[in-house]
Amino acid sequence: MNKKPAIKKEKPFAPACERNQEVILSILQKKLRKTDRRILEIGSGTGQHAVYFGLNLPHIIWQTSDVKENHVGINMWIDEVKLTNVLPPMEYEIGSSQVSASNIDVVFSANTLHIISEPLVYQLIQDLAENLKAGTRVMFYGPFKYQGKFTSESNADFDLWLKDIDPLRGIRDFEEVNNLMKAQGFTMVEDIVMPANNQFLVFEKHK
Ligand SMILES: C[S@@+](CC[C@H](N)C(=O)[O-])C[C@H]1O[C@@H](n2cnc3c(N)ncnc32)[C@H](O)[C@@H]1O
Repeated sequence: MNKKPAIKKEKPFAPACERNQEVILSILQKKLRKTDRRILEIGSGTGQHAVYFGLNLPHIIWQTSDVKENHVGINMWIDEVKLTNVLPPMEYEIGSSQVSASNIDVVFSANTLHIISEPLVYQLIQDLAENLKAGTRVMFYGPFKYQGKFTSESNADFDLWLKDIDPLRGIRDFEEVNNLMKAQGFTMVEDIVMPANNQFLVFEKHK
């Protein structure tokens, strides 16, 4: 049998992560509490954010998670950097599996709420309410609408593009997310305006 050359598989790569990782890191550095140790990332995507944040927040244990099909790519990023504080992905598919998060101090999720369907946004918030301990913070990064209005024309176009792929996708109303979180025992801590028409929302579980 003929030998095959070893082909190095390309890691998945998202240009958006390259653009936003620095500004997100600067918020994490400011907003993480001294006692925060374990972060669960929901929807780790390519794994780029996890290794960048893990490298720059060495005191944090960064637990990745995503749907199963993304695990190979996330592991490629983790294996390459050989960081002991970035953990291989847990399988958490909102709507299909349960999240294991009772020992987590912070949940972080970037650019996921507009990708999952509206019923899955409800499901995610319910899962977090049922599984997180009191005092855990939840941080959502991404675009939001306020009082039904987009914060930019490009976000309005992005929303149309998302709905064209799947009508259940779309940029979420800040007020709706805030109300759902409130109803499930979370208090809004901060809403930070980020570059490129994004927000960084921080909630805390109070019961
Ligand atoms: C736009 S990507 C964002 C990825 C990454 N957080 C980033 O900022 O580049 C959306 C992510 O949501 C994940 N996702 C979609 N449906 C999901 C579900 N039902 N449960 C968990 N994650 C899901 C996708 O696999 C993908 O990683």
